[in-house]
Amino acid sequence: MEKRLVVFYSFEGNTSFAAKTLAKLIGAEVERVIPLKQPPKNGFGKFFWGGKSVFMHERPVLEPLQREITAFDEIVIGFPIWAGSYPPAISSFLKDYPFRGKKLYVIACSSGGGTKKAIEKLKEKLSANTFCDSLSLIDPAKDKEKNEKLIAEFAEKNFGKAPAVRELPDPESVFENALTRTENDTISFGE
Ligand SMILES: Cc1cc2nc3c(=O)[nH]c(=O)nc-3n(C[C@H](O)[C@H](O)[C@H](O)COP(=O)(O)O)c2cc1C
Repeated sequence: MEKRLVVFYSFEGNTSFAAKTLAKLIGAEVERVIPLKQPPKNGFGKFFWGGKSVFMHERPVLEPLQREITAFDEIVIGFPIWAGSYPPAISSFLKDYPFRGKKLYVIACSSGGGTKKAIEKLKEKLSANTFCDSLSLIDPAKDKEKNEKLIAEFAEKNFGKAPAVRELPDPESVFENALTRTENDTISFGE
C-alpha cells in the first residue's frame, strides 16, 4: 500500500479539522507544521500580521517535523488561504523539507472561496511532483457535517472507498504527533 502523509498548517483549526478528517479516511500519517512564532489570535491584528508576512515573503522558523517526508509516496498538503496565497509557514515547509517525485494533493481552506491562485502557485512550486487533485473548503470547522461529506467524496475519488468517518479512530490518538506539543487546535503564540 502507498505510504500516505497529510501535512498541514492551521492557524484557527479549520485546516486541522479537514486534514485530520481526510487522514482518518485514507489511513495517512499526519504532520502539523508549527511556526515558533504565531500571529496574534484576535482582532484585526491577525490579518495585518499574517497579511504582511505573506507580502514580505517571510519564512518563519518551524518546529522540527517528526517524520521523514521523502519516505512517503503520496503527500497531501493542507493550508488556509492568507492574503490570496498559501501562508508563510507552508513556504518554510517547502524550503526546509524539499521533495520530488511524489503524488501530490492539496486541501485549501478559505473564508471566501478564492483558493485557485494559491493552489496554482503551489503546483508551480512543486512541479517536480505529480499533482493529482485539490479540494477547496470554506471554513470547514464551522459546518463539520457538510464538510465531512465533501472530504469523504474527495477521499473516495482519489484514494478509494473508506468506512464512514465517524466509525474510524481519532487520528489525534493514532497518528498525530503535534497535539502532544499543543493542548488543542488553537496554538498559543510567542512574542
Ligand atoms: C492572516 C489571514 C489572512 C487571510 N486571508 C484570506 C484571504 O485572502 N481569502 C480568504 O478567503 N480567506 C482568508 N483568510 C481566512 C482563512 O483562510 C480561513 O478562515 C481558513 O478557513 C482558516 O483556516 P485555519 O482555521 O486552518 O487557519 C485569512 C485568514 C487569516 C488569519
